[in-house]
Amino acid sequence: MGIAKLLGVFLVMEMTSGFRSGADGLSMGYYSMSCPMAEFIVRNSVTRALQADPTLAAGLIRMHFHDCFIEGCDASILLDSTKGNTAEKDSPANLSLRGYEVIDAAKEELEKQCPGVVSCADIVAMASTYAVFEAGGPYIDIPKGRKDGSRSKIEDTRNLPPPTLNASELIKMFGQHGFTAQEMVALSGAHTLGVARCSSFKNRLSDAVDPNLDSGFAKQLTKTCSAGDNTEQPFDATRNRFDNLYFNALQRNTGLLASDQTLFAFARTRNIVNGYAFNQAMFFLDFQQAMVKMSTLDVKEGSKGEVRQNCHKIN
Ligand code: HEM
Repeated sequence: MGIAKLLGVFLVMEMTSGFRSGADGLSMGYYSMSCPMAEFIVRNSVTRALQADPTLAAGLIRMHFHDCFIEGCDASILLDSTKGNTAEKDSPANLSLRGYEVIDAAKEELEKQCPGVVSCADIVAMASTYAVFEAGGPYIDIPKGRKDGSRSKIEDTRNLPPPTLNASELIKMFGQHGFTAQEMVALSGAHTLGVARCSSFKNRLSDAVDPNLDSGFAKQLTKTCSAGDNTEQPFDATRNRFDNLYFNALQRNTGLLASDQTLFAFARTRNIVNGYAFNQAMFFLDFQQAMVKMSTLDVKEGSKGEVRQNCHKIN
């Protein structure tokens, strides 16, 4: 699609999606008047970045998840550490996050077009949805109007799920954020994109080999990981394509993380995995809805936040 046509589509979407405002202060047409090019600019930045490096789609969606699970979707993940405060991004759980430069590029352009209007939290949220779409996944239309937060502390990242959790622990943790088991499984389907490093799953390969791990796959992983803890292993056969192969991998006991494979091992979530493995359209629909829900987690509105001039630091 040509740039002019794409721009036209976005402007029409912005104008027709109305000015409805939810209880949380978010709305689809939030930037209709103040920055009608906002979505177009973010999308352009994502498209350009993914053309150069398609692996960034995974980075962007993971960034949004890690942002929303700590203090809500408020771009706390983008704040740099300062003297006296170690920020979320410097936690071991976040060291392999990628795609910050895509957000910075979009913010720079937005500040030229409409200074001080579009929050970093909205940029992260929009970028993650475009990344999913560019990678072949569903189009996810999310409301905008998030504000940027001022707290970013390394200790808060203990609320991110470690890859050793089993299905009932994952259900509990996601349940605390208001998600059902089905939504948790759908969101885990984001692991259709990207990679994990050996340090995230090597515990499964030790003497007491994980019984839920296919033995041939375990041997292959052991060989891969002999190159070191930072060696990357894709979650499924199509690391840059948003599809349902991740769920097929779980059915074959070739899920990479213990927290992936547990979804098939556990009776309550196995049926959901089977459903998504069988029906990609169903996965896309559930993922789409769960992402809209995730993108509105504990959002800050009005005076509870600000629009940062620079996503790396508070104003
Ligand atoms: C269900 C609980 C989850 C756990 C325990 C988990 C854990 C992990 C771990 C350990 C990695 C690999 C990190 C590394 O080795 O560098 C990873 C990667 C990833 N996670 Fe999750 N995750 C979960 C849910 C999610 C959700 C809900 C999303 C997004 C909606 C997501 C998106 C991703 C993506 C896209 C990657 C690949 C990143 C890349 O290639 O750069 N994860 N996750």
